[in-house]
Amino acid sequence: MSFIDEAIAVKEKAIAAIQDIKDKMALQAFFADYLAKKGAISVLMGKMREIPPEEKGRFGQAVNAARKEVEEAYREKEAALAKEELSKKLAEESIDVTLPGRSAGSGRINPFYQIIDEVTDIFLDMGYEVAEGRDVESDLYNFELLNVPKDHPSRDMQDTFYIEGEGDLLLRTQTSAVQAHAMLERNPKTPIRLICPGKAYRRDDDDMTHSHQFGQIECLVVDRNISIANLKATLELFVKKMFGEKREIRMRSSYFPFTEPSVEVDVSCFNCGGKGCSMCKGTGWIEILGAGMVNPKVLEMCGYDPKEWSGYAFGVGVERVAMLRYGIDDIRRFYIDDLRFLDPFVGK
Ligand code: PHE
Repeated sequence: MSFIDEAIAVKEKAIAAIQDIKDKMALQAFFADYLAKKGAISVLMGKMREIPPEEKGRFGQAVNAARKEVEEAYREKEAALAKEELSKKLAEESIDVTLPGRSAGSGRINPFYQIIDEVTDIFLDMGYEVAEGRDVESDLYNFELLNVPKDHPSRDMQDTFYIEGEGDLLLRTQTSAVQAHAMLERNPKTPIRLICPGKAYRRDDDDMTHSHQFGQIECLVVDRNISIANLKATLELFVKKMFGEKREIRMRSSYFPFTEPSVEVDVSCFNCGGKGCSMCKGTGWIEILGAGMVNPKVLEMCGYDPKEWSGYAFGVGVERVAMLRYGIDDIRRFYIDDLRFLDPFVGK
């Protein structure tokens, strides 16, 4: 084999070898084998000394051409490997931007508590305090101190959950139980202006408008010279703030053992403005709460001399207000965890 053939053979071996290279490590080894100082091509160059003078020129050209070709193949491979690596990395890290996003789902306040917050704000603005009652009450506070003795027929209206084996403990049937607590607690006797939002419990069969557990907000005012005019003015203000400036109220005579006189309070229908529609059952009015002047007997039992003190009270159903305000058809929606129910209240 002539020297020139040898140069061509080395070159061809190199070009064949580089075809099989699949990674950087192998490429580095290839560089060492052929192109580095001690690589096959440099070794070829070193043979120049053995070449007869007349062939030196052609041999030198052949080796240089081989080096050039192998270097080119090397650079091409290097670029190809880098490109391959990049596209592999991109494929691994790729995200499908057309996939729908996952929302963080921020929490929001149940309309039940929105109503409590709103009513509370209205009364705080008027200088009332917020009292905390208790869900587990005694018969004494829930009934007797509210002028409902054991055999009183009005107990039938509030079918009660009694707690077995716990004396006279029960689940309060009305937030009115807070009234006697508030009055008895005050010594010496001072004026009272409070509201008490909370839950009440009755053994009602659950249906669209009844639940065995429901929210109530109690209001109690005791002071000197309180008359039914104060009650009416307060209710009017409350209703206008809660349901809008155009709303009017109407009082109908009613009966509660702990108020005398007692009234049922209606608000002019916000759906039809009083003309009569399905919401108000054609009457133009919607009943929203029970109220009255604190019964002198209750004042007396709770240590307030009825000759000096008088007061008013009312109790409003939280779900009832929310249902009217937001047009909710079924009270049971408040108690199940259906987020679709909460959605319409965003931002309200
Ligand atoms: N406690 C009464 C009820 O639950 C409402 C009420 C409260 C009535 C205060 C008069 C005064 O029906």
